[in-house]
Amino acid sequence: MQTQRHITDSYWLRTAPGPSRPALSEDLDVEVAVVGAGIAGLSTAHELARAGLRVAVLEAGRAAAGVTGYTTAKLTAQHTLVYDRLRRTRGPQGARLYARSQSEAIEHSAALVAELGIDCEWETRDAYTYVRDRSRLDEVRAEANAAREAGLAAAFTTETGLPFPVAGAVRVTGQAQFHPVKYLRAITDDLVARGGQVYERTRVVGLQEGGEPCRLTTEAGHTVTARDVVIATHYPVFDRALLFARLSPRRELVVAGPLGEDPDPQGMYITPEENTRSVRTAPYGADGQRLLVVTGEHFTPGTGDVRARFDGLAAWAEEHFPGVELDQAWATQDNDSTDTVPLVGPFHPGTRHTYVATGFGGWGLSGGIMAGLLLTSLITGRGCAWRELYDPRRLKSVVREAPSLLRTQAEVARHFVGDRLKPPASVDDLAPGDGAVVRTAGGRLAVHRDEEGAVHAVSARCTHLGCLVAFNRAERAWECPCHGSRFDVDGTVLQGPAVRPLERRDL
Ligand SMILES: Cc1cc2nc3c(=O)[nH]c(=O)nc-3n(C[C@H](O)[C@H](O)[C@H](O)COP(=O)(O)OP(=O)(O)OC[C@H]3O[C@@H](n4cnc5c(N)ncnc54)[C@H](O)[C@@H]3O)c2cc1C
Ligand code: FES
Repeated sequence: MQTQRHITDSYWLRTAPGPSRPALSEDLDVEVAVVGAGIAGLSTAHELARAGLRVAVLEAGRAAAGVTGYTTAKLTAQHTLVYDRLRRTRGPQGARLYARSQSEAIEHSAALVAELGIDCEWETRDAYTYVRDRSRLDEVRAEANAAREAGLAAAFTTETGLPFPVAGAVRVTGQAQFHPVKYLRAITDDLVARGGQVYERTRVVGLQEGGEPCRLTTEAGHTVTARDVVIATHYPVFDRALLFARLSPRRELVVAGPLGEDPDPQGMYITPEENTRSVRTAPYGADGQRLLVVTGEHFTPGTGDVRARFDGLAAWAEEHFPGVELDQAWATQDNDSTDTVPLVGPFHPGTRHTYVATGFGGWGLSGGIMAGLLLTSLITGRGCAWRELYDPRRLKSVVREAPSLLRTQAEVARHFVGDRLKPPASVDDLAPGDGAVVRTAGGRLAVHRDEEGAVHAVSARCTHLGCLVAFNRAERAWECPCHGSRFDVDGTVLQGPAVRPLERRDL
């Protein structure tokens, strides 16, 4: 597959375009303002509206078109090898609460699908985490035990529906997969029908808290006042409680295409081996055909040869599913928290009215729905058994996180200082389609030469906290390795935490 020519919007976004929502054009006052219309923000706003609150969602781009629009879209409480780790770090009770919270989120979304009659290609499937390397069998056996102890229908097995043998796998029965954008379009319609407001093309650039109510400022200069504010921007666009130091971005690639004559492997599969391989299929076309979706090859944004990684992932898919015709490729990224548990709850120790949902570590679909339920219970003053597990202020675990936190910060420092020491490229060396950071009298510039030969220059300093961006040629974007901000070649913000564009410069 020529991945360079085929990097597209995701299959999910192309097959569920949805209506466009207005941009905010005046000041607004609501009870709760939710910033970000991914699965976390929309699920939260929907639950709040169901609880009778006046809520508005402010989205910088299009609803459901952030990370959520580009995922593999498995809805499972089996998160690779999480339960054995949780049993050790948060105790058996922590592992049980994690399993219950994720399972209840999936059950809740199944109930919504039934109640609202949502056509989102919901399919019940078993989820498998497998290894092919026999030396990792102990990890899988331990995970099967831990997941079962945590309350999931989990068992060790050597039998899967995959077209190749595995050394062993954990199978969790009764999980689900769906079309995430169709699901969220319907949730958004119901939110609006209940009086909720959804604004697109409305980027939030300021948050003032402390006084009551909280105040949000948009890029267009409007103010939104709200008693409570939820930051659901994926990577939080405002830093509180050292969150930037506790999250690291991980970009990942997806290839997809009709399965052809190959048998459908039926289940949902993931392996931590080979830099992660995740497999599912989805309904495709009217004649019972299936779409194969394969995810993997994760890396820090702004590093390495992304085209080579796409080719590696496509080659893996074609080797294992020889009938597949891969004709789609896309990419997105998620954030890992330093203790691998999402950060969902009060934004920082001093707050009474601001909340955050982030750090989903590759499992933010069940995690985002769970966040909607948890944040609604906090905002409406109801109790929730897993509030402490996910509380972003969990200080005891910050101490345990220290080594991982230091590693994350050392990596950030390397990109802040180390990248500046690399010898810069020259503009003349730039091939069409390429980009590089070059040194000029006016400082470091991020320079891109388009396919027609015209050169575009912007400041190479990320507007978030000043690390140097690097060019992702395969996706034609500037990426910041520190916290994952992404910018178009003209400097426009594609993904936060940055909220301001890279400044345009003359060469
Ligand atoms: C390749 C890949 C595959 C995955 N597959 C799965 C899977 O199978 N199952 C699973 O459970 N999880 C999966 N995940 C993880 C999951 O997709 C994410 O955790 C989840 O979608 C995150 O949702 P979110 O609402 O936090 O973020 P998003 O969907 O990114 O939503 C955040 C929104 O905030 C908006 N925003 C940002 N800044 C601002 C601002 N300043 N003002 C206003 N709005 C702003 C953005 O435009 C965006 O729309 C996968 C992740 C990756 C990378
Ligand atoms: S994303 Fe934080 S410095 Fe660039």
